Amino acid sequence: MTQDEMKKAAAAAALEYVEPGMIVGIGTGSTANHFIDLLAEIKHKIDATVASSIASEERLKAHGITVLDLNNAGALSLYVDGADESNKSLHLIKGGGGALTREKIVAAASDKFVCIADESKLVDTLGKFPLPVEVIPMAQSYIGREIVKMGATPILREGFTTDNGNIIIDVHGMEITDAIKMEADFNKLAGVVTVGLFASRPADVLILGTPTGAVTV
Ligand code: A5P
Repeated sequence: MTQDEMKKAAAAAALEYVEPGMIVGIGTGSTANHFIDLLAEIKHKIDATVASSIASEERLKAHGITVLDLNNAGALSLYVDGADESNKSLHLIKGGGGALTREKIVAAASDKFVCIADESKLVDTLGKFPLPVEVIPMAQSYIGREIVKMGATPILREGFTTDNGNIIIDVHGMEITDAIKMEADFNKLAGVVTVGLFASRPADVLILGTPTGAVTV
């Protein structure tokens, strides 16, 4: 099975969490795209969706799936999204696609977060994947200096602007042993919009695509 087929297997398994009449929160990325395409086959079953990015919104709409503004949707019962890394506590690194802020908002507004990924995303220690941080542009240099003080290397994601008009700094060389504390530490820095650590609100379920099919962690 290819990595993409494993992503699709995880996405297919997440369909079991979709119940009639739900408004479903939808993530961003190649694994979430598989979920969107599969959801299209049962779109009559759900009420609507809320998207975590403009890209996902456009893909949902292309399938004829209703997309609501989160402010008009109330609390969501389910959020389905991918991840760049997960540890065994289901603390995640997200934001490889740059959609971390809206993803974190939709995850926070959802009762259950089902994370879907291929098996390569499960790691012992978070941080090999560079940690994305969405930053207000005028704070770029200040945040860069703070990251250097933490002993890591900040690299600006060149030519990239988030859906919210901000920049992304990718933090390289950070070994994340206490994800909850590190998330809080980043959140305290002026100019940080969102850090791509999902630890204070981790995933509730992790479905991994493996060569022999989907496995729930
Ligand atoms: C988007 O900003 C990310 O958080 C994605 O969820 C993450 O990058 C996973 O992407 P893939 O499903 O493409 O691996």
